[in-house]
Formats: sequence, structure tokens, C-alpha cells
Amino acid sequence: MTNQHTHRVAVIGGDGIGPEVTAAALAVIAAAGVELATTNYDLGAARYLRDGVVLDDATLEELRGFDAILLGAIGPAIGDTRIPGGVLERGLLLKMRFGLDLYVNYRPFHGVAGSIAEGCTFSIVRENTEGPYAGEGGTLRRATAHEIATQGSVNTRFGVERCVRYAFERASTLSNPRLTLVHKTNVLTFAGDLWSRVVTEVAREYPAVAVDYNHVDAACIYLVENPGRYGVIVTDNLFGDILSDLAGAVTGGIGYAASANLNPARTGASMFEPVHGAAHDIVGTGRANPLAAVSSAALMLEHLGEEAAARRLSRAVADFDGDVATLGTAGITAQLIERL
Ligand code: IPM
Ligand code: MN
Repeated sequence: MTNQHTHRVAVIGGDGIGPEVTAAALAVIAAAGVELATTNYDLGAARYLRDGVVLDDATLEELRGFDAILLGAIGPAIGDTRIPGGVLERGLLLKMRFGLDLYVNYRPFHGVAGSIAEGCTFSIVRENTEGPYAGEGGTLRRATAHEIATQGSVNTRFGVERCVRYAFERASTLSNPRLTLVHKTNVLTFAGDLWSRVVTEVAREYPAVAVDYNHVDAACIYLVENPGRYGVIVTDNLFGDILSDLAGAVTGGIGYAASANLNPARTGASMFEPVHGAAHDIVGTGRANPLAAVSSAALMLEHLGEEAAARRLSRAVADFDGDVATLGTAGITAQLIERL
């Protein structure tokens, strides 16, 4: 289905190579024949250093009204200590996730040639607004000999269930429908009990999906030793954060990893970003690899209802067999466009 209207997309190129890979992704989208009306937002480390703004509430409200948000990368150069850790993460990225209710972080992986997981395709559906990221907790008697710090994990029936439902929907589209809950139910008994019961309950509505459970530590071994066992992994916010870096590493590096911060209920714009960082060290050299940004753009097109174009982008990335290092940003982009 092709939507009749031009999709309105907010573009946050961000810092470092972010604007370069975002421009490449937009070029590939245009070549696939999808028309976007883009609005650029200057946000990130550079903006913060210039005028102290991270993401104000008015801008967040503007972002909510778009059909999607395409983000490049956010963050200062390594060793630049002018921005305290967490300011941009909490003030920009997490503020968007919570403020726009992006309750699913969907990360598909495909093992590239030569990687540990070569040929394997699986995805992680990470709950994206609760767990330890909710910020529950506090500190008492800080910096004294008697200090206390607590950091809770928030798990609501509503939040867990909507994430689990999304994961089952994804799993049910696989040729071999499989879903694995990853948790630590033997130790985190309260949260684990809720997650397990929700998965068992929702599973009744998806009899074609084979359901499995792994403790998170065991899943780290399986991801390295037998990644082919997974279809869709569903897990909480922090486990999903850690597991998706490991999944990126075994499938070829986070230089290939895409992610979709989704509000499937569509009460706010969903946000699409490569998992990699700003790589300030290669800015302007033409060496930035746009494959993860293009894969993220494919996820955006899927969300916008442009399924056919999304498949063409994904296939172009999957079939790409050029030498990333010699082709560079422009060469990779040209080859992807040629293969559309
Ligand atoms: C990610 C990142 C973020 C997270 C950071 C930057 C807050 O690691 O998107 O995986 O922890 O979710
Ligand atoms: Mn992470």
C-alpha cells in the first residue's frame, strides 16, 4: 500500500557522522520513489554546546505531530568532557522515548558474511519506557559513610503486555514463528513472574508461534554459540539494551544495526535511528558507513505504510557486498541506489 499523502518527517541529523549517514538514507529513500516532506531539527551535542538547549517541551510537542522522526547520531567526541554524561541521553533520547510513548524498541539483526552469526536473522523487541530506565529510586545521605542508593525496575501489566503483543505480532510473520522471552525469573521473581504470565497468556492467541524462555545470562552464550535458534527475542528495557549490543557484535558490528523506537498505537511520532554513535573521528572524510541508517530508514518506510519501498531498501542492504572501506559513504550509497 502506498499512502496518498507526502509523509512529514522530522530529521535530526545530530552530531558527528549523523548528518552524513542521514543524508545518504534520505537519498536512498528518494531513489526508491517515496516522497517525504522533511523538516530539519538542530539538536544534539553541538546545539547544547552552542546555546544550552537539549530538547525543550515545545519542540517535543512539534515532533509528536510528525509522521516519523529520522535520527542520525547524538553525542560529543570521545574525550570531550564539556557535556556531563547522561545530559543528552536523558534529556534528548530518553525524553523522546518517554514523551512520545515509544514503548517498543525493535532491533532486527542479520548476520553479515564473516560474522559469528553469518546468515542468521532474528530480532529483539525491547520494552522501551519502563524497567530500570523509568528512573524509580533515589539516594539518602549521599557522599557520607552511610549513603544509600536504590534503583527500582518498574514493570506494569499494561506496559509489559503491549510490548509482548507487539513481539508476538512480529513473530507471527516469520516463516518459522518463534518467540523467546529473555529475563532472569529465577532471581528477579516479581518482575519475572509478571513477564512470564503475560507471555503465557498472550501466547494463547498465537498458537502458531513456538514460545521459549531463556535466562539472560544463558541467552548471552546462545547468542554467540547458536544465534540461529532465535526468531524474536522479547525482553525488558535493560536486558534489551545489553543484549542488542551483543547481538550487534555477533552479526557484524553495530555499524550495521538499525533500530525503531516505536509507538505502535500512533499517539506520537515513532523515531528511527542507527544504533551506532557519532564517530567524530571520521567526520568529513567520506568514510561513514550509511548501511545502518539506510536499514533504519527501511524500518521507517515500513511504519509509514510504504511496505514495498521498505522491502526494496532492506533487500539492497542485505545484498550489498561491496567493500565498505574503499567505497565510502558516497560509493555505498550509489551502489544501494543502483540495486534498488
Ligand atoms: C541505546 C543506547 C541508549 C540506551 C543510551 C544512549 C541511553 O545505549 O539506544 O541502546 O541505553 O537505551
Ligand atoms: Mn544501548
